[in-house]
Amino acid sequence: MNAETDPIIKPARTVRGSVRLPGDKSISHRYAMLGAVAAGATRLDNFSTAADCASTLGCVEALGARVTRTGGKVEIEGCGGELAAPRRALDCGNSGSTMRMLSGVVAGYGFRSEMMGDESLSRRPMGRIIEPLTRMGARIKASDGDRPPLVIEGAQLQGLTYEMPVTSAQVKSCVLLAGLRASGKTVVQEKIATRDHTELALRAFGAHVESQAGSVSIEGGQRLTAIEAYVPGDLSTATFFLCAAAMFAESNLIFDHVLLNPTRAGILDVLATMGLKVGFLKVEDLHGETIGSVQVQSGKLTGAVISGALSAALIDELPALAALAPYTRDGLEIRDARELRVKESDRIAAVSENLRRMGVRFEEREDGWKIPGQQQPHGAELESFGDHRIAMAFAIAALRAVGESRIRHADAVAVSFPEFFTTLASVVEA
Ligand code: S3P
Repeated sequence: MNAETDPIIKPARTVRGSVRLPGDKSISHRYAMLGAVAAGATRLDNFSTAADCASTLGCVEALGARVTRTGGKVEIEGCGGELAAPRRALDCGNSGSTMRMLSGVVAGYGFRSEMMGDESLSRRPMGRIIEPLTRMGARIKASDGDRPPLVIEGAQLQGLTYEMPVTSAQVKSCVLLAGLRASGKTVVQEKIATRDHTELALRAFGAHVESQAGSVSIEGGQRLTAIEAYVPGDLSTATFFLCAAAMFAESNLIFDHVLLNPTRAGILDVLATMGLKVGFLKVEDLHGETIGSVQVQSGKLTGAVISGALSAALIDELPALAALAPYTRDGLEIRDARELRVKESDRIAAVSENLRRMGVRFEEREDGWKIPGQQQPHGAELESFGDHRIAMAFAIAALRAVGESRIRHADAVAVSFPEFFTTLASVVEA
């Protein structure tokens, strides 16, 4: 996208209507990886349209799974536990989830895999998965010690009891997926609970996984069986629209079949506490995942302090909340979110730069921000920094600015939601 095709965001009056969401990105990755390992044909409906999930599909194809994609429907003919040695490097694109979780899958096979990614992914730390996988018996080479590309020499792994030094669902998932083929039992201990989709997906595919407060364990040598599943709408993507609804009077948005897994739904609690009216309809369980329809309407927009376990649970939602903060009454303080510095961009620096461009007063800290409320940002030339969540967060913030904004390098939205701008246009009222 060049400067002439960068989207221009004009101030809006409100947002109203029904938002069609892509399938959840975290679940799409996991179902695709487990489908590739399982015996039989896994049929997935509403599979994520994200470029990240297409990267996962490309990788599992290179490992011998047969993938057929028709619109939102994806069929994966699994390898029945026997992936094939890849004949080309596994290209993870921009997707940290693909690289970190798939490393755990391939580490248990006696072949060599090379995992590579784009420029942003090539800067992200992989030591967090190299360490436990090496302890389990894999040999891994990385660039500069812990950066992609990775060369993984797989082996018969040994089960491991692993206390996670970082709060990361990707790391937990990597170790559990390696544990699936290891000998003996693998236990992952986490001090702060992270999203539990891997545990739920493994169970859906027929594995026995035990979860207790602070730990998850899996016995190696279990076989998986294909499933048919509907992937619920992505709540992290819905967040941008939830923030838009929170920002405007007379807003009213409906999201059908959206993911409501409690390890992901913290954003609804936070926005409801700040005053957004949130209603639930038709809540049900699909393969262990809670899904339902959600209606949100404008209410007060007070403020919040987000820290500790809540910051970890909301890690993908924090850029959108920070961009919303100036429009709140009491402001937002976000702490304990240092992990934002090693996402697709340094999200703390990226948010700060865009807030500055909009004329917002705030304090940047090593692990977050303090952003006072009752400010009136102005339109500006905003930068995605090649990061999908930064592009979407500021496209939303720009709707209530004074004057137009331009979002530079907005094509980054394709990483999680290629249809973002058309979906936004369908609910914005000028
Ligand atoms: C994800 C975990 C989180 C999150 C990412 C998706 C997952 O990353 O930021 O977008 O699907 O497990 P970390 O595990 O690095 O926190």
